[in-house]
Amino acid sequence: MNPPAFNLRYLPSPEELARYAADEFVALLICRKDFSAPFGVALSGGRIAPIFYRQFVESTRRSPARFENVHFFWADERCVPPTDLESNYALAQTHLFKPLNIPSPNVHRIRGEDDYSVAAKEAEAELCRIMPLTDAGIPLLDLVVLGLGEDGHVASLFPIEGREWVDDPRVYRHVVATKPPPSRVTLGYQPIIRARDAWVLASGPGKLDTLTQLLAGKDLPLNRIIARRPAKAKEHAATTIFQDFFKPEKNV
Ligand code: 6PG
Repeated sequence: MNPPAFNLRYLPSPEELARYAADEFVALLICRKDFSAPFGVALSGGRIAPIFYRQFVESTRRSPARFENVHFFWADERCVPPTDLESNYALAQTHLFKPLNIPSPNVHRIRGEDDYSVAAKEAEAELCRIMPLTDAGIPLLDLVVLGLGEDGHVASLFPIEGREWVDDPRVYRHVVATKPPPSRVTLGYQPIIRARDAWVLASGPGKLDTLTQLLAGKDLPLNRIIARRPAKAKEHAATTIFQDFFKPEKNV
């Protein structure tokens, strides 16, 4: 398998990685061609998430982003109540939505407290209600912000699942994860593959081996996504990996 095509950005620390990605996110919001169209972003959890949110709030103070019609979704959510410390929604509510006064109608959480099949169906219906769809009914998100697990997982798409899951048409589905808490609802591969921008905030020394495997073209969930996101395609950009643990000769 050829090494996949993606952009790789090295930043020397988690804070600088988060600040760089946050500034890029603000730039995307400012440079929208049509502020009346929905801009859909799907967020992830993980240790880098609160750092990214805090940096994003700072970025919007340096160059005011406009939030009209910006809709927040999740790449994955743990099946816990929205007040639980493990909730990805709770993380964003505290560090992002509250500080920026994001209106609640623009926040579309996955209802982790409900039966997971109901939660997945409701989240899918909401995402497909707001965002344009492909002919196959896949919602076209503008941006998916992912973390990277040491095993190469993104969102809650884990390597324990085989490659055949890439073509599963469900927008959201329940998984039993190998990372606690186990019960989660995750975007399937297709909405991430079809997103206009897909960013991976890969932070932490434990990810170097993962990146090495990625570069070698190992069959990892992230590689399955990158391989189907051609580097140049009119409907989306190449995947960008921001990482803070491997200093290449020059930023590639
Ligand atoms: C989750 C995340 C998950 C996370 C990665 C990286 O809900 O757990 O969505 O995909 O982003 O596991 O997490 P760390 O940055 O903490 O390693």
